[in-house]
Amino acid sequence: MCDPTRRAVLAGGGAAFVSGLSGCIYSGGDPEEVEGLQLEFATKNVISRRSRHRFKPDQSVPTEIWGYDGDVPGDGVQVTQGARIRYKLINKLDQPTTVHWHGIHNRNSMDGVAGLTQDPIPPGGFFRYDFLVRQAGTYWYHPHAKNTLGQLTRGMTAPLIIYENEQPDTDDDLTLTINDWALDADYQIAGLPGANPTAHLFHTVNGRRGYARASRHNERLRLRLINSCPAKILTIRSRGLDGYVVALDGMPLLRPRKFAGLRLTPAQRADVIVDVTAPDGGEAQLTGAGEVLASFPVTGSASASRRPAPGPLPPNEVPDLDLAGARRVTLRMLGGRPGQLAGARVRGQGQLDRDALRERGLSWSINGWAGMPEEPEVVAAKGETVRMTIVNANGAPHAMHLHGHHFREVRGGSLGPWRDTIYTAPNSRVEIAFNANNTGEWMFHCHMLPHLAQGMMSWVRVVG
Ligand code: C2O
Ligand code: CU
Repeated sequence: MCDPTRRAVLAGGGAAFVSGLSGCIYSGGDPEEVEGLQLEFATKNVISRRSRHRFKPDQSVPTEIWGYDGDVPGDGVQVTQGARIRYKLINKLDQPTTVHWHGIHNRNSMDGVAGLTQDPIPPGGFFRYDFLVRQAGTYWYHPHAKNTLGQLTRGMTAPLIIYENEQPDTDDDLTLTINDWALDADYQIAGLPGANPTAHLFHTVNGRRGYARASRHNERLRLRLINSCPAKILTIRSRGLDGYVVALDGMPLLRPRKFAGLRLTPAQRADVIVDVTAPDGGEAQLTGAGEVLASFPVTGSASASRRPAPGPLPPNEVPDLDLAGARRVTLRMLGGRPGQLAGARVRGQGQLDRDALRERGLSWSINGWAGMPEEPEVVAAKGETVRMTIVNANGAPHAMHLHGHHFREVRGGSLGPWRDTIYTAPNSRVEIAFNANNTGEWMFHCHMLPHLAQGMMSWVRVVG
């Protein structure tokens, strides 16, 4: 599964041999334990702060946003697999924050969850993140502290792109971070999109309304789609682009599948390799939520004919699942509008009734807990397979995310693709399985952030 002597090719062109590892670190290992290891380093000092942003060049008044180095989205981190990421976050917001590296099989102390894996970074404080990334793919990062919802709604998101040692043959590799916004008449953020009926709603790609990139007929593009909207489930469609989904949530698909009508919940990612089939003089488009999200005006031709279909990406190392010997657990999710939840337990406060929950802004529960349960909902031994049945016993869709691991959906006898975030339809149940091979305390929660803020969270402990 994990070959510690595996050869890693660095972005700078050199080669390194990964050796001397004590045990198998599948990603996110402690860099101090891999002495003598030559790695590509990404070292960044980043300030989370307020700044001003124009979603279109002609926007008359800029919008106050919060962002990594004041950008929406932040520049992010781009490395080749095997790299060591050192990222010092300096908090210049007036409230605590952290950085969570979404989808990374990180060591637990670097997972960035305030109150579970680290202390919140106070205003004026900083935190040094330092970890290795073995897995390749499209990831992202965002705050994970008390006001995750507010910070993401104001723009705190950035891509984390980990290139394969051997990259597929494409003409370009574009990261498209998709967000939605609600602005008031003064161009200022009016809270969560959809929450304020008078606000002006729109979507952006890489912080821009009307993202456009010049293209050529038959050009082959790798598009890394990241839904970093706080709560919007998107259905992405294309015109004049034809190709394959090659990875979901960072994990390569064994068999690429035709790209057509792709659902992306908040936090989900998809890598697609597409050819521009729109003619010279035409325009290819990506659409979602009734808007053109990105356009690709076509001038000239990249080649006379289309290339053969792309093959699968090199697989990431993922631990096998032992479905028969698995530990089983059921998580039952209840709730809805404020006041709909009849009762739930709250950490340190015992069982609360409807009114007490409503006063605290809690309207969702998992296995009877609103907010973080005092004890983990699952305790697994390292390497044990966990089969988790998620019962969505309410009328809303959810986007359930597990930290530190990828899982597969168990559908009857077959297994879905590896994912870190899964759509659960209203009043349905979904079963997932993962190998609990990463020691520590890992959150499991809804990534539709109002639901998270209103209590829809739980956690898993992996011991050993
Ligand atoms: Cu993308 Cu718990 O997070
Ligand atoms: Cu939810």
